Amino acid sequence: IPVDPFDLVIFGGTGDLARRKILPGLFRRFCAGQMPPQARIIGAARSELDKGGYREMIREAIAEFGGDLTGTEGRLDPFLDRLDYVAIDARGEGGWSELAEMMKGTERIEAYYFSVAPALFGDIAERLQKWGMADDRARIVVEKPFGRDLETARALNKTLATYFNEDQIYRIDHYLGKETVQNLMAVRFGNMLFEPLWNSQYVDHIQITVAETVGVGGRGEYYDKSGAMRDMVQNHLMQLLCLIAMEPPARFSPDAVRDEKLKVIRALEPVASHHIVRGQYQAEPMNEAENPGYRTAVENPRSRTESFISMRTEISNWRWAGTPFYLRTGKRMAARSSEITVVFKDTPHSIFEEDAGRHRNVLSIRLQPNEGITLGVTIKEPGPGGMRLIDVPLDMTFAEALDPEDIEQVDAYERLIMDVIRGNQTLFMRGDEVEAAWAWTDPIIEGWEARNDVPKPYDYGSNGPTDSEELMRREGRAWREVSE
Ligand code: BG6
Repeated sequence: IPVDPFDLVIFGGTGDLARRKILPGLFRRFCAGQMPPQARIIGAARSELDKGGYREMIREAIAEFGGDLTGTEGRLDPFLDRLDYVAIDARGEGGWSELAEMMKGTERIEAYYFSVAPALFGDIAERLQKWGMADDRARIVVEKPFGRDLETARALNKTLATYFNEDQIYRIDHYLGKETVQNLMAVRFGNMLFEPLWNSQYVDHIQITVAETVGVGGRGEYYDKSGAMRDMVQNHLMQLLCLIAMEPPARFSPDAVRDEKLKVIRALEPVASHHIVRGQYQAEPMNEAENPGYRTAVENPRSRTESFISMRTEISNWRWAGTPFYLRTGKRMAARSSEITVVFKDTPHSIFEEDAGRHRNVLSIRLQPNEGITLGVTIKEPGPGGMRLIDVPLDMTFAEALDPEDIEQVDAYERLIMDVIRGNQTLFMRGDEVEAAWAWTDPIIEGWEARNDVPKPYDYGSNGPTDSEELMRREGRAWREVSE
């Protein structure tokens, strides 16, 4: 279904995110017939480009980052025709009157994507207002990092609130745009089966792993000031935790969902230092030049920033009191694998004499790759061997169950940008959520800073420091295997 006509201005329109994600995503939506013919996309950035130059840049970006382009033949030129460009000075006056002129007098939806460093958010917002573009129709899209602690996040929220209402602000966490993340809500709240068991009485623990094989690459400067806690846990893992743990919202509407997520964050327990393991990856053996260790990659030989973190936390409310939530994320790990796992408790009593093992139902929600949901169930091992029990997966992988022809693959960014145009904030973070997440994160970081904590080295392509395994083992549990 096409969305209503819109103008999307992308500040930072020549930047990495715009070229890798935003514009290739918009192209796919265009090819899918979702973009109305009148829609315009206006790149705004410092470079002195003209419309033609910008279109060429985006043509190349789509060729490089657009993925599989079969079936899009003949569609690129009409898409590029939708593109315009204005050279703009975010901190000065250059280009603003031109942009205001372009945006004048249209009745379309106006969206402004701030794909720039957060330090520029205020300057851009101020100029949008000054030039008459910050009216009630305007929507703004902002990207992480949304602050680096509670104080800076509050300041950012305050700045944006000077010019825009909360219902005009779309804070992107691209994990919320991932297909399986939404499927998680469908499975939880669209079935009778799970919800009655979804509490500390039946759930032994929950694990959330976001393992990456990439290193910090060319982002060393940013990353070394952030680390895995700020880069991944405060936002992506926190959002996953909220969706798995929240109470059923009364409706699938933006504030109903976000109210419930906020309650989870506010009920999170502080994390004790012995429940945290931080690590830094080592170089790839025999290939140090290409895949150096973390400290070399960020050019900071004494860096104390973590490229891996695992931790145990709890949610203090009626549903979850006493149930551990284990979170883990890191770079240069054994495989790229993101998964949420709900491990149910043992059956209270076994009636089968030959049954020596523990049988636990395990619901695993796989975000990437091979997205899908599996439920481990216990059955009798087929054959004459008596009443032997084995665990098998009940597979809800949609690629298996549904005709692949009927499934339209939509990237997280595509989905979220279309939601901005539709005016649906359900999959965006509200300001108070972001602040609450920092309020939980800050003391944890302050704790290790006060202790001068040095992350443990871990092997290239491993599951993080061995202490991370120990974190689970001493409680009689184990991490799920990190595999693709
Ligand atoms: C980003 C982080 O938000 O998410 C990166 O800044 C990380 O460090 C990336 O690599 C992971 O996203 P995805 O979609 O590849 O899992």
